[in-house]
Amino acid sequence: MNIEDEVESADAHISYLAPGSFVNRRFVAPGREVNTGSYETHRVRIRDGRSIRDHFTLDTHGFVVTDHRSAVRDFTDTGQIEAIYPAETAELVRRLTGADRVIVRGWMTRTSGDLEARQRQTVGYTHQGGVQPPAAEAHVDFTAETAERVARATYESEFPGEAPFRRFISSSLWRCYSEPPQDWPIAVCDARSVGPDEGTPNALVVVDEIPDPETMLGPLPAGRPPMTADVFRYNPAHRWWYFSAMHRDEALLLKFYDSGKGIARRVPHTAFRDRSFPEARVRESIEVRTLAYFL
Ligand code: OGA
Ligand code: FE
Repeated sequence: MNIEDEVESADAHISYLAPGSFVNRRFVAPGREVNTGSYETHRVRIRDGRSIRDHFTLDTHGFVVTDHRSAVRDFTDTGQIEAIYPAETAELVRRLTGADRVIVRGWMTRTSGDLEARQRQTVGYTHQGGVQPPAAEAHVDFTAETAERVARATYESEFPGEAPFRRFISSSLWRCYSEPPQDWPIAVCDARSVGPDEGTPNALVVVDEIPDPETMLGPLPAGRPPMTADVFRYNPAHRWWYFSAMHRDEALLLKFYDSGKGIARRVPHTAFRDRSFPEARVRESIEVRTLAYFL
């Protein structure tokens, strides 16, 4: 018997891209994220990996959970996060991936609770490193093209003139710092259950305020190619996992893109409402994007 079949699970709804959704863009403003595409919910089984936590690996599933204590005491204090967390994250990602060099590319906190209260409470709020709601549709933050482009440009500007890297991994290091159990955990999809041709590009548009619907569907300003995510359509083969009762001394690393071949390459993920725990509390989390290079 496969140990993956002997776990608890939650039946939950996941939001997938609907058939015939043509203009797919994600507008992100401080405290709000709006997709122009149409989405539909599907009921899926989400396995709880808690009892077999150490079974999951980056190479096989595309995600891993590890014990890790951060020196950050207050994740609502932007200054404290900036001073401590990027360096800690780079070190942790280096250890988990075995990469030679890790570059941190920004962080974000999320709350399933009162966003405005959190924004007022946050010390040193800025557009970067702000507070957002959970991201509740099946997605991967970068398409392969965007990941390749960003990884090259970042490497050239961080290590000018140096020999090129052989391989890289783009990923999110995710931590929940509110008390368990949480109302809106994150679910991750086993990379082996996702086909290579799955995913529809969703262009990211960062704005100060969400514009009206007509503007959102109109022409985008010319210039640099947009950063593009992949959003996913329903596929009954998708094998979803979550880890119940995550806590602040634990971290989840999930791959957006691995340029290596023959291993897990990308992990669709989404927040979902977990109804298994009637006493569930607000979820507050922090995620850091990194690029890990192998020389
Ligand atoms: C991420 C992400 C969503 C969430 O870490 O890339 O999409 O709700 N997180 O935490
Ligand atoms: Fe994401």
